[in-house]
Amino acid sequence: NRFSFIDVSVEGSIGIVALNRPKVLNAINRPMVSEIVSIIEEFDRNDEVKVIVLCGHGRAFAAGADIDEMAEAGAIELELLNQFTEWDRLAWVKKPIIGAVQGFALGGGFELALCCDILFAAHDAEFGFPEISLGVMPGAGGTQRLTKLMGKSKAMEWLLTGDRMNAKEALHYGVINRIVAKELLQEETLKFANKIAKQAPLSLRLIKESVLKAVDYSVYEGMQYERKNFYLLFASKDQKEGMRAFQEKRRPNFEGE
Ligand code: HXC
Repeated sequence: NRFSFIDVSVEGSIGIVALNRPKVLNAINRPMVSEIVSIIEEFDRNDEVKVIVLCGHGRAFAAGADIDEMAEAGAIELELLNQFTEWDRLAWVKKPIIGAVQGFALGGGFELALCCDILFAAHDAEFGFPEISLGVMPGAGGTQRLTKLMGKSKAMEWLLTGDRMNAKEALHYGVINRIVAKELLQEETLKFANKIAKQAPLSLRLIKESVLKAVDYSVYEGMQYERKNFYLLFASKDQKEGMRAFQEKRRPNFEGE
């Protein structure tokens, strides 16, 4: 195992990354971020992997960035470290990332969950940004991504209070996709991952990319992007195969080309 803070496996066409510091509720230190980003980028380039699952070992997904690592940090040191450029690379991953959250997803742990494309959560999941009670604030996209998801007023409330939202609230606000019984979280997440892993790989890729543009761009700009991706798919064998299979009333056999 070349990793110290994560546990990595491949099950069929699913690449699984599990945060693995259960004694400290998977507190995220900088080497852990490097490991997460490095394996996810590797999965992104690996033809055998179609979908990536991100989860946590133990009773939490992640209770935040490692406070022990940050407590004595200085502003200039942090500026020079420029650690968030590593997090930024997650936003460039082309394959779908599905997060499975049990227990706490707080601070940087919540921000990591918000980097996922789809989130499944156990009944005991709790999301929140407690940074305000530490005299800091989110730094890995929390203020932006939560606001895009739930709107300004609600995001403001959660971020300013630092309160934790339970799984039901997270579902209600559109932060997560599904609540699953804790014992079934891994199984249901993998079932869903396998379901989308069967889709035409190039369509998966360009749909994900286009949806993410909708978050950042105006509708008009996003639609230009969508259109180019739509045209691009007509250069693929899978488009010919998918449409021919429909006409021939059989199942398509997609190859990602
Ligand atoms: C370092 C942490 C930690 C963290 C938990 N631990 N969270 N260590 N950094 N973020 C450690 C505890 O110190 C403890 O270690 C062990 O994990 C178990 O935690 P307990 O507190 O004993 O568990 P419990 O009583 O169940 O409380 C759970 C908790 C609490 C409510 C989640 O641990 C907590 O409040 N944690 C901090 C949450 C937080 O503030 N996160 C935001 C961090 S700032 P020992 O050795 O005592 O057993 C942040 C900024 C992001 O994320 C910036 C961008 C990256």
